[in-house]
Parts: sequence; structure tokens; C-alpha cells
Amino acid sequence: MLKRFNHVAIVVPDLDDAARKYKDVLNASVSDVHDYAEHGVSVVFIDLGNTKIELMQPYGENSPIKNFLEKHTGGAIHHICIEVSDINQACENLKLKNIRILGDGVPRIGAHNKPVVFLHPKDFYGTLIELEQE
Ligand code: CO
Repeated sequence: MLKRFNHVAIVVPDLDDAARKYKDVLNASVSDVHDYAEHGVSVVFIDLGNTKIELMQPYGENSPIKNFLEKHTGGAIHHICIEVSDINQACENLKLKNIRILGDGVPRIGAHNKPVVFLHPKDFYGTLIELEQE
């Protein structure tokens, strides 16, 4: 079911500052800031060739990562993302195995314009897992 590792997402308190640090200190290939109003996040993509790091900060008052940042004020890893060959089939299999899918359980379009779902972190050892259609 699982395919390639797509990205790890890190919530940061100051996106410009974090992007600058990855660029200046680590000489990383860092994108411009992308605002996703519909997802409540602003994101910077760091291209590592074989995978990506995504730095995120809350966008707007109803951001789904607002509480996370209040708990982890200095920033922290938020989720990992792994590609799947068939996301609808993956969801069916997971539901049969009593894995909880966040929200209404239906894939929605994520930041890469592909369908994604998030699995409940309590069902995977404290790690929020995003599955993305490859
Ligand atoms: Co993600």
C-alpha cells in the first residue's frame, strides 16, 4: 500500500525566520512562502531531491495547526507524508482495520493538489500520518 516518502512537515513560530535559517545555515533549496487559506497554513517547501521538508505556520484565526503551535511554542515535527497508489482503496482497508481517519474520512485535496487523508496519531504511536495519492 505504501509508496514513496513524500515529506515531513514541521510547524514553526516564524516562517520567514525558519526559511532563512534553512537557507543561510544549511544552504537548503527553499521555496517562496505559499499561503493556503483553505487549509489555514502558510508553507515553505525545502527540496532535498529525494524528499521534502515543509515548514508550516498558521494562516488565519481558524488554522488547524494553531493549537499545535500553542503547545509547541518553539516548533515541532507535525506530520509525515507517505504516498499511496490508491487512496480510496487505502481508506477502505484502513477503516476495516479500525484505523481512524481524521475529519469525515473522505480524501480532500491537499497542498500538492492531490487527494490526502490524515490518520489518527493515537492509532500510529503518536505520529500523525498523511497519506497522499501518488
Ligand atoms: Co503534509
